[in-house]
Amino acid sequence: MTADLVLRNVTLPTGRCADIVVAGGLVRHVGRAVRAEETIDCSRLTCLPGAVDMHVHMRGGVQAGKEDWRTGTLSAVAGGVTVVVDQPNTVPPITTPDLLRARVREAKEQAVCGFAVNAGVTPGADLQGMHDAGAMAFGETFAAPSSYGDGLGPETLRGLFTRIHALGGLATVHAEEVAGPAPATLADHDRARSGAGEARAFRTVCALAPGGMRLHFCHASTAASVEAARGTVEVTPHHLFLSRGMFQEGDTRARVNPPLRDEETRRALWSRWDRIDVVASDHAPHTLREKGLPFEDAPSGIPGVETMVPLLVAAVRRGKITLASVIEKTSWRPAAILGIPRAGFLPGDRADYALYPDAVTRIDAGRLHAKCGWSPFEGLEAVFPEEVVVRGRRVYACGELREAHPAWYPGRGYLSSQVK
Ligand code: DOR
Ligand code: ZN
Repeated sequence: MTADLVLRNVTLPTGRCADIVVAGGLVRHVGRAVRAEETIDCSRLTCLPGAVDMHVHMRGGVQAGKEDWRTGTLSAVAGGVTVVVDQPNTVPPITTPDLLRARVREAKEQAVCGFAVNAGVTPGADLQGMHDAGAMAFGETFAAPSSYGDGLGPETLRGLFTRIHALGGLATVHAEEVAGPAPATLADHDRARSGAGEARAFRTVCALAPGGMRLHFCHASTAASVEAARGTVEVTPHHLFLSRGMFQEGDTRARVNPPLRDEETRRALWSRWDRIDVVASDHAPHTLREKGLPFEDAPSGIPGVETMVPLLVAAVRRGKITLASVIEKTSWRPAAILGIPRAGFLPGDRADYALYPDAVTRIDAGRLHAKCGWSPFEGLEAVFPEEVVVRGRRVYACGELREAHPAWYPGRGYLSSQVK
């Protein structure tokens, strides 16, 4: 057999050292290598399966000034993410099959890695049509208002959940309680969208969803919310690595929904590490110009797709968490939840990998690839990948994009509608 690519001397999660032989985008054989068009020596590198970031806002369209599919997915691969799942709170929001198909077309033209597109959840949305057109999941469903999304009331949510459940769909939910006037500081913002309120909102959503429904909670920011979730639960790198005390009170760049919490709450979130299913970035870039508005008016959201896995790999190097848990929460669990073929080390696995050097560096926003040009993680320890392979192709190496390799992952509805 002639392979397209061989990764030589890979240390597998079991500790065994082997060569991974790739052809047609899949792993064909693990063991001694055969002849190949291209080889990468992994003996000095840590080989992780490419991450599936199941919560990114790629923007594009009329919001291409903030981010577009090209810059957003380049930022993804530069951070070891090989599949991104785009959120539907675009302008306009994705609420019809035509809008969803147009979104997929835009991504196919510009993306440099794998992608999926979620369906918007609003009372008038054509859920069935978007399911058949290839939506990956439904949401994020706004059970609380946030940037470019109005909060849905309990009865509306109940009705929408019933319809999503009837389709066999997965609902991903943004749940918070919001109170009081527009916040003027990070502490105000934390109070207005409190941790206790978030946990209550999670419980309310659980009570509204039909039994047996596929349910996923986005960006839990407290240990209590992680405990309150039913189905699966996601946390973000910003709630794990940042607390609001690390910023000036009026720093709009740290304004995000759910808000950054205090240091004690951040540490308590780590105590639930084993219970957390997924780490996803909620990459929500806004320009510095928009963030320059007075705090009350500045948009919520921070970039993070490129720094997510690098921050986690640095935490592995410090001995805080295991590499196996990072693989599980950034790649295998999100792929399993969504039904995306898994990237890994067995024959038949998707050949998506990111290769990390030993050196721990510090995040420097000037070296990142998102359009916005800033990062709230500036100065934190990180390990960035040297090489990234998407479906067996060397897409990114030593800081440079070598070739684009977009691949669309449609959801289950599309796959079954094709055989009707
Ligand atoms: O801070 C946030 N920004 N939270 C969200 O839920 C949406 C996001 C955005 O799209 O900007
Ligand atoms: Zn959200």
